[in-house]
Amino acid sequence: MKRNAQTRSAILLFLAVFAAGAQADEGDPRQYVGEARDIAQEFAARLKGELESALEEGGASQAIGVCGAAAPAIGARLGKETGWAVGRTALRVRNPRNAPDSRERAVMTSFQQQHAEGVELQGMERIGIVEEGGLRYVHYMKPIPTQEVCLTCHGGDVKGPIQQALAERYPADAATGFREGEMRGAFTFIKPLEGR
Ligand code: HEC
Repeated sequence: MKRNAQTRSAILLFLAVFAAGAQADEGDPRQYVGEARDIAQEFAARLKGELESALEEGGASQAIGVCGAAAPAIGARLGKETGWAVGRTALRVRNPRNAPDSRERAVMTSFQQQHAEGVELQGMERIGIVEEGGLRYVHYMKPIPTQEVCLTCHGGDVKGPIQQALAERYPADAATGFREGEMRGAFTFIKPLEGR
């Protein structure tokens, strides 16, 4: 329960920063939007490139390794290059290790609601300062739309050897049944703010 209360206060702080429109001081999260956007763009491009070439070369079972192993590897490389912890999460995950914390869940739920009200996923993002364990971080999230190339492994009709390979590796898989254009998940990047 204690942990819950802590998490809740972190969410409240996170939302409060947005509501206040954040003053232009050193802790203003808006100064980090540009670099976070660049990382999101780079991450998406590298992933899609690797997925497409794996699908071409070795078919879907090889590509499962790309979304499975290469995504964290690309994230780690980008993290080293940029100083951000770079990850992906979703409201329905394939790998339980990608499950969202309560703050990430709240942000994705809000993306989902806006999308249901007709706002394009492409333009959405969220940035804020969060405080955890006495340290301050800047946290950025951006929705990941489902594209056609994703349906092979995340669509409503995942078939044959792919379905089998996924079932073996991910017995708790909840990341199928998506349609093109729906929110598949979100990028989630966090970076410590030193000395603040
Ligand atoms: C060849 C199969 C395959 C394709 C195609 C594929 N994925 Fe995945 N996806 C996976 C696997 C396997 C995982 C689990 C990764 C892991 O273990 O971290 C995954 C995980 C994810 C996650 C992390 C959250 C979770 O559910 O664990 C996101 C987000 C995601 N995929 C988005 C996409 C998007 C967007 C596309 C299309 C651009 C795509 N995937 C295409 C197989 C695929």
